Amino acid sequence: MRNLINIMDLTPIEIEELIYIALDIIANPKKYAHVCDGKKLATLFFEPSTRTRLSFEAAMYELGGQVLGFSEAASSSAAKGESVSDTVRVVSYYADIIAMRHPKEGAPLVASMKADVPVINAGDGGHNHPTQTLADLLTIYREKGSFENLTIGLCGDLQFGRTVHSLIAAMSRYHGTKFIMISPEELKVPRYIISDIVEKKGIPYEETTSLEGAMPKLDVLYMTRVQRERFFNEADYMRLKDSYILTPDKLKTAKTSLSILHPLPRVNEIAVAVDDDPRACYFEQARNGKYMRMALITKLLEVAL
Ligand code: CP
Repeated sequence: MRNLINIMDLTPIEIEELIYIALDIIANPKKYAHVCDGKKLATLFFEPSTRTRLSFEAAMYELGGQVLGFSEAASSSAAKGESVSDTVRVVSYYADIIAMRHPKEGAPLVASMKADVPVINAGDGGHNHPTQTLADLLTIYREKGSFENLTIGLCGDLQFGRTVHSLIAAMSRYHGTKFIMISPEELKVPRYIISDIVEKKGIPYEETTSLEGAMPKLDVLYMTRVQRERFFNEADYMRLKDSYILTPDKLKTAKTSLSILHPLPRVNEIAVAVDDDPRACYFEQARNGKYMRMALITKLLEVAL
């Protein structure tokens, strides 16, 4: 049985296979309409979500399977004090695969040690979000045709942004990757990610506070929200929340081939006027998430395709 807890659980070849399956699903959806007949996905969401939970659910329905679960801890027995371990042990009796989001880093890993069915990390605290990275990778692949020789700007809350942490890990495996990390001093990429991944692999990177300075160099700009729910102090959040607001004016120095990504939800960090720019990919990115989650479900359930 395989789980997906960290994007590095998948080899680059396995990621390529998932991308080819996702592209085939897009081209031939009817071929996949019954491949999960009789299978059930449990979505255990202890934290709010729109895209991840609903795209997992849509993915399973579009594969012919069924879905059960909860969308907040308050409507589960976690509210009565039940542990994650006990919850997943029991849910393993009811479902064939589990997608779990939890505010505590490491909770899906603990779940995977206790569950009798595959567990997918659908976001754990400020740590990782591997299935968002699958959506990001399909978007980059469709935009660029390859993962090689890309300069990637990561902008916003790079400390708590779990999507950023997973994307750095994923892109660190491709030739010619460069990172420009754009954040306030207080929200820089955690040191362990820089030392264990970026520096260990000798990947060129810059840390800067200037989006304007970085803009002309970028092939991909990955904007992120400053995450109110991870701050201990509301005053700090209020001071930092509008550090970067992408506007059409700021894109004047960008490459015409730039791809603008954002995992969403957006708050204020991309002006709505940017949505009409042909370089804006973030809504397509959310759509791609469903196809990659469909591909992932077939892989973890070892469905014959
Ligand atoms: N990108 C993402 O994880 O969105 P949700 O929080 O809406 O699932």
